[in-house]
Amino acid sequence: MTMHDDVARILLTEDQIQQRIVDLANEITTTYDGRQPLLIAVLKGSVLFMADLMRSLPIAHAIDFLATSSYGAATESTGVVRILKDLDDPIEDKDVLIVEDIVDSGYTLHYLRELLLARRPASLRIVTLLSKPARRRIDVTIDWIGFEIPDEFVIGYGLDYNEHYRNLRYIGVLKPEVYLRTTDPAA
Ligand code: IMP
Ligand code: MG
Repeated sequence: MTMHDDVARILLTEDQIQQRIVDLANEITTTYDGRQPLLIAVLKGSVLFMADLMRSLPIAHAIDFLATSSYGAATESTGVVRILKDLDDPIEDKDVLIVEDIVDSGYTLHYLRELLLARRPASLRIVTLLSKPARRRIDVTIDWIGFEIPDEFVIGYGLDYNEHYRNLRYIGVLKPEVYLRTTDPAA
């Protein structure tokens, strides 16, 4: 048994993801012409996206990280967001780009956006690799979306189910039996 056996089907291949990131990086480069953006990745799901995106950006930039957690079941967001790890440095007058893995209900991004805007950055933009428009509960303006995907729970390329599958190079749909066989009380 490997992690691949838990995948019902591959939604986005490694090649599709990498090619899209190059396109996103080109658009981002054009937008920040002459500026040095601060990329803020939302841990932990965005680490692979951040690592690939920054390597595709030919412009100077800085990075920082923050971690959030939403209360509730493993596959549902509840709208209550808390900060587990804040940024290392102030963002006042910086050109901030939030780097997200996936926008689902939109609650996490909505909260983060308000939080960071209160710190008076020069600009605030958002790039997300994935978006599930069918699941949106609150409207958030997203500047760049890698892929719009259907309403299915996905794993891989940073995204987890109970902390597993983040290391997959592709994004796949988890077999429903994986949820059913879990014995983790936190799941
Ligand atoms: P939102 O607040 O509902 O927009 O979603 C916030 C977080 O839920 C994302 O950043 C992910 O960490 C997680 N999430 C939502 N959908 C999925 C999924 O399909 N697979 C893995 N994590 C997900
Ligand atoms: Mg996330």
